[in-house]
Amino acid sequence: MVHDTFITNIPKAELHLHIEGSLEPELMFRLAKRNRISIPFQSVEDVKKAYNFNNLQDFLDIYYAGASVLQTAEDFHDLATAYFARAAADGVTHTEIFFDPQTHTTRGIPFDVVMEGLLSGIAEAKAQHGISVLLIMCFLRHLDEDSAFATFKSAEKWIPHISGVGLDSSELGHPPSKFARVFAAAGSAGLMRVAHAGEEGPPSYVVEALDLLNINRLDHGNRALEDAALTARLAREAMTLTVCPLSNLKLCVVDNLNNHPVNRMLDAGLRVTINSDDPAYFGGYINDNFRALVAAGKVSREDIITLARNSFLGSFLKDEDLATQI
Ligand code: ADE
Ligand code: ZN
Repeated sequence: MVHDTFITNIPKAELHLHIEGSLEPELMFRLAKRNRISIPFQSVEDVKKAYNFNNLQDFLDIYYAGASVLQTAEDFHDLATAYFARAAADGVTHTEIFFDPQTHTTRGIPFDVVMEGLLSGIAEAKAQHGISVLLIMCFLRHLDEDSAFATFKSAEKWIPHISGVGLDSSELGHPPSKFARVFAAAGSAGLMRVAHAGEEGPPSYVVEALDLLNINRLDHGNRALEDAALTARLAREAMTLTVCPLSNLKLCVVDNLNNHPVNRMLDAGLRVTINSDDPAYFGGYINDNFRALVAAGKVSREDIITLARNSFLGSFLKDEDLATQI
């Protein structure tokens, strides 16, 4: 028996959260009004009805459309502070959030506007909730290498505020190899590296992420389980996997949470963590993910302790900061 207060109170880190994916419909409407942007929805209910996806691309089309209401530094600040408050209420003491600069720069929103808004939101959240936050800048893999390099160039003056780079968006047809050079440049600049792989893509994409992107952490990784040697390698290398159960369900990566591979991952000795991915779109924040796994009989109280501990071990906190969290 796992009590809800146990899930809530156990300190945890969230390592896979797209800040644009935390845009709740209510805030989407408020920002659309504030910025006089038209969105193809009449009401919050209308928006929620549209969140019915068959795959990753269905979701991404709506996610990029929703992000169009984000125009000013204040908008990014409001987006970020809403997520930090919600995460803190779930017992999240540390979070490493993704942001997608190209989603905004391709619409004419300057990189600096995004950074100024996010950083002021982070400062406020630290003061209000005592939560610590690191930033991971993701490259959109459906765009080309030149665009990723241009984004990396725009980030130059902000590098001291960015902990790592990531790779997200449409996985199939966009293997990690496409971004080997920009990831190498990021590594040379002292940044950590993560990549979405094995969410919809084959195990070979996970191997590429390891060998060609030199990742420090694997986002999703579900399909790695199809390859026993790869699974053994991930366990041997103590690679952290940022697993997102409700996302997997909504995007039809799994047909039912009863078939979610989290327990097989744990049994294989993988360093699994639980995360919400895009909580506004997938029906829940981090604790909703834990609750759903408990309800499906997938994780025990001991597993939750392991998962929470893994979230700190897999974080990019420096040892002196890590020591204050565990
Ligand atoms: N961008 C936001 N959420 C994503 C996901 N689950 N996979 C790939 N790209 C994303
Ligand atoms: Zn993701």
